Order: sequence, then C-alpha cells, then structure tokens
Amino acid sequence: MSALDRCYNIADMREFARRRLPKGVFEYLDRGAEDEIALVDNREAFKRMKLRTRFLVDLTERDMGTELLGKRAELPLAIAPTGIAGLTWYQGELELAKAAAAKGIPFTLATGSITSMEKIAEVAGGRLWFQLYMWKEEELSYEMVGRARDAGFEALVVTIDGGLGNNREYNRRNGFTVPFTITARGLTDMTLHPRWLIGVIFRYLVTTGMPRHENYPEKYAHRITRGASGERPQRHTAMTWQDIDRMRDFWPGKLIIKGILREEDAVLAVEHGADAVVVSNHGGRALDSAAPTIDILPEVVAAVGKRTTVILDSGIRRGSDMVKALALGADAVLTGRATLYGTSVAGQAGAEKALSILATEFEKTMAYVGCRNIAEVNADIFAKPPAY
Ligand SMILES: Cc1cc2nc3c(=O)[nH]c(=O)nc-3n(C[C@H](O)[C@H](O)[C@H](O)COP(=O)(O)O)c2cc1C
Repeated sequence: MSALDRCYNIADMREFARRRLPKGVFEYLDRGAEDEIALVDNREAFKRMKLRTRFLVDLTERDMGTELLGKRAELPLAIAPTGIAGLTWYQGELELAKAAAAKGIPFTLATGSITSMEKIAEVAGGRLWFQLYMWKEEELSYEMVGRARDAGFEALVVTIDGGLGNNREYNRRNGFTVPFTITARGLTDMTLHPRWLIGVIFRYLVTTGMPRHENYPEKYAHRITRGASGERPQRHTAMTWQDIDRMRDFWPGKLIIKGILREEDAVLAVEHGADAVVVSNHGGRALDSAAPTIDILPEVVAAVGKRTTVILDSGIRRGSDMVKALALGADAVLTGRATLYGTSVAGQAGAEKALSILATEFEKTMAYVGCRNIAEVNADIFAKPPAY
C-alpha cells in the first residue's frame, strides 16, 4: 500500500509530508507566526460551529460546482498561492497546477515560486491566477504582471498583508529563510531525507540546475540559495489604495485583493475596482493575533457580498469547513496547506487526492444539512447562527 493509499484525510497527508520532507521545509510549510495563536484559532473557530441536519431530502440530483468569477468551477474552491510547492516535489508548482486543472478548479501561482508562469501556462492548462507582492521598484511589479497578462493568466491576486514581512522564528532557527542559507544543520536535515534530496534537489540539479525565482525580473531572478548578502527585491512598504488603482488600470483581467480582515477594507477594495476579495489571515502566518477569518467573514459579506465575490481562506482542512464558509456567505474558499501536504506526498497525484478528500467531505456534509447545491446553503444550517 502506498503512502497515498494510507491517507484518509488531510491530517494523514500532513503526517506523511512531515516524514518525507526535511524539518526545515516541513516547518516552513506547516507552521504559523510567533506563538501560532492564529494558526490554532483558525481551526478552533471552525470546530466551534455546529450544524443542524436536515434529512429526507431527495439527494438524487446534486451539483457541487459553482460559478466563480464568471466561469464554472467544479467545486467552490481554488488553490491558494504558496511560494514553496516547488521544493516539496520536483516541479511541485506544475504538479499542483495540473491537479487543479484535472479537478476543474483555479490554481494561483505565487510571486516567489520557482516555476515560471510561462511554463505553468504552457503545460498545466486550466484556470490560472497569478499572485503579486508589490515591490518598491514599482516598474518591476508591472513588468512581472505584464508577463502574467501575456501568458494568459485570468486573474491577478494582489496580496496586501505582507508589507513588512512576517515573524516566523522557527524558520530562522532552521536556517530556512529566503534566500536559503546552507548551514551544517540544514545539510544534516537534508541528508536524513534522501528520498527528498534525490527526488527533488538532485533532480533539479541534473535538469535545470539549482531552482531560481523564475518569476522575478531578471535582475533578481537568483538561485534560491544565493547568500543572504545577494541583492533582493524589497517589498513596497508605501503601498496604498492608489497603487491598487494603478494596477487596476494596467491589469485587464479579474483583480482579487487578498488579505482583507475588516469590512472597511473590503468596501475600499470594491471601490478601487476589485472583482473579488479574499478574507485571509495568511493561514496564521502573518499577524499572530489576527482574528480567525470565519469570524470576520459575516461583516465582510454584509458590507460587500452583494457587489463582489467573497472568498475565504485560512484553516480549511475538512469539507465541512467549506460548507460553513459558504453558509456564512462566502462564494468560495482557498486551500493552502491541505493541497501542499498532498503535493509533498505524491506530486500531482497527492494534490488530486487532497482535493478528492475535500470534495467527498464537502458533498457528504452538504447532504447531512439537506443541500443539493451551493445555492441551497445558508446560515440556517447552524445550530447557533453567528450573532453578526
Ligand atoms: C508554505 C506557504 C507559503 C505561502 N506563500 C504565500 C505567498 O507567496 N503569497 C501569498 O499571498 N500567500 C501565501 N501563503 C498563504 C496562502 O496563500 C493562504 O492564504 C493560506 O495558506 C491559507 O491557509 P491554509 O494553509 O490554512 O489553507 C502561503 C502559505 C503557505 C502555507
């Protein structure tokens, strides 16, 4: 029986990913900021919400798909941008993108990923979104976004919660900060995981060489292991809504603002031309005292839900979490770690398995609450509807 066959849920996949990856890589993928309060709270908030069942509903005709930003998605789900899939598996970003295409949902490629957006567009197919961290040298952000436009990406996801970076102490402890510094401890960690070392790093070395930040402008597209002294692009710390206006004018496709955690910002996002907002606390990887996103979702839906697409992420590990988010008015959710665990275990097949697990759990929970399609889900499924 393969590892994948022994994965019955996302927690199993996480455990196999933990065994397969070096500690530094796994902790980078898995953990949260500082004391990991937000990481835990994201899950606790979902767990607190209890549902009322509705039985004896004819469930013969069911459709778990939806219209997301004007096109059909087979589930109310998309893959979140994560800048590490390519280190969990050889060409992991491509594997993840192919899994999303196979399952009929959008895939978001992160700014910091190591597979070029052109290659993803050429090989993966499916619906593609590109995530942007704006840089201080603004023209470089535009150069990169221009490439995404030319490669046919459908949506631009501008992440707004990363201005000054984050505080993830375990990454520093593991020497796992970008660019990666090779330490004795890191080398030991890698050699203790030979399957990963040979299957991922050696494979890169004998094919395309040490991975680079392929989507960065040429000036900064260094190898990911470049010494800490290497020139790196600086994040745009002076970014304001005026920058969103300029990007809106430049970008012809759908514009998604990711990192919203208050209704006022959701309203501003719509006023500045966003087609969708993502209620996100970065999966508990940014502000450690951030509220769980499911607690903030109702105020955002009340403020902009009728005018724009509202997406939620942070803490989705079960199909029931998806149902709860939809019942509170989200149009869709993003998954970050769940599909990354899958990629870490078995590339495309692993990511597809993670998506199948979520899909099955989603459909079964929907059945328990008597919903045959997305339009039927609303807050009356809750034992105690949230007070907002
Ligand atoms: C390893 C990792 C890398 C991430 N990198 C990015 C990134 O480059 N850009 C971004 O906007 N969000 C990034 N995120 C945040 C995700 O897009 C998403 O908001 C988060 O993972 C959702 O929470 P979940 O992992 O609990 O599903 C990253 C998340 C993880 C786990």
